[in-house]
Amino acid sequence: MKIKKIWFILYPLIILLISIMVIFILKLFQKPTNNTNNSTSTTYSEKATTVSKELNIYDNLMNHEYSKTVEKLLEEELFNEDYLDEYYQIDYVDTKEFANYLNILLNKNYNSSEINYIFKNFSKEIEILLDMDYIDILKYKDITNFDLSKLERYQTYQEQNDYDLKTVVTYVNIGLDLKGYSEYKEYTTEEAQNDLTILVNKYHKLPDNYEPNDLVSLSYNSSYKLRKEAAEAFEKLTSAGTLENVYFYPFSPYRSFETQKVIYNRYKDRDGETKADTYSARPGFSEHQLGLAVDVRSPNLNDNITPETYEWMLNNSYKYGFIVRYPKGKQFITQYIEEPWHIRYLGVDLATKVHDSNLTYDEYYDLYIETHN
Ligand code: DAL
Ligand code: ZN
Repeated sequence: MKIKKIWFILYPLIILLISIMVIFILKLFQKPTNNTNNSTSTTYSEKATTVSKELNIYDNLMNHEYSKTVEKLLEEELFNEDYLDEYYQIDYVDTKEFANYLNILLNKNYNSSEINYIFKNFSKEIEILLDMDYIDILKYKDITNFDLSKLERYQTYQEQNDYDLKTVVTYVNIGLDLKGYSEYKEYTTEEAQNDLTILVNKYHKLPDNYEPNDLVSLSYNSSYKLRKEAAEAFEKLTSAGTLENVYFYPFSPYRSFETQKVIYNRYKDRDGETKADTYSARPGFSEHQLGLAVDVRSPNLNDNITPETYEWMLNNSYKYGFIVRYPKGKQFITQYIEEPWHIRYLGVDLATKVHDSNLTYDEYYDLYIETHN
């Protein structure tokens, strides 16, 4: 009788307990999907909620998915109701002055896709865009070597030239909108020593005192030197030519900074600076100082190779790691007159890629090697 009585009390209690648990579990599952009503209010911070109520947009927020961007603007009291629809489309980025910059960009008429692109790609340099009028930034989207810091130069260059945008970006990156030598990057000795692929031109300089530490003699003449890897490759190139009855010999391989200085000054005195700059590099700006470039000559010519040898060089030198560095028709890009005789060692893999690309090394380097941003 007693036991029955206990069950009489316990039974409804157990039922009650189970019901509470079921309700609790159901609530748990409901939470993430139920964001059309009051339940999302817990997601916005207290400050954002308070401000949204003051601005009478609380109900609007509750009818949308939670947006960290909106929350941030409310918290920083930079919320502008005119832009609410855009705010919902803009991904939050944890970056300095996000809310402030966002409003400035919206003010300039950038839309949400453009703004998402800008924050994703240029968060560190965003001030450049804040300081200028709206530009159609997405037109640069697929241009991998685009560099925001050069934007104004791209615009000016495009106004003055009839090139497509990709070409404009590459040419400006190379420096063709500037006068050669007016701005240049200077490599460190370590960079020059450890990287056989560095670009040396009127915008990329070697240290004055740089001298490669692995120069070796060429079999043709022991006072002619190249870096070891380039020297070995050059011997193979020469043998390959000989096998096909294409004869050439090295004439000017490695040249020190001092030697280049003497050569350049001699030409400058003779022809004037402007002319000398079209065919001779100023000291520090010559590939010869790298120990990776060599001028070759045909046996029966004074200062050149024959057209046949040039043709052979264009089509075969890459197999041994060399490219013809100043080819015909590319003076405008290389900034030197054509030099059929000047070949540059890059290693077989890279020389093959450059050869197959049909680009000058200046262009190839900017497009595929140099890092932008
Ligand atoms: N003639 C080439 C450009 C040099 O002086 O390095
Ligand atoms: Zn040369």
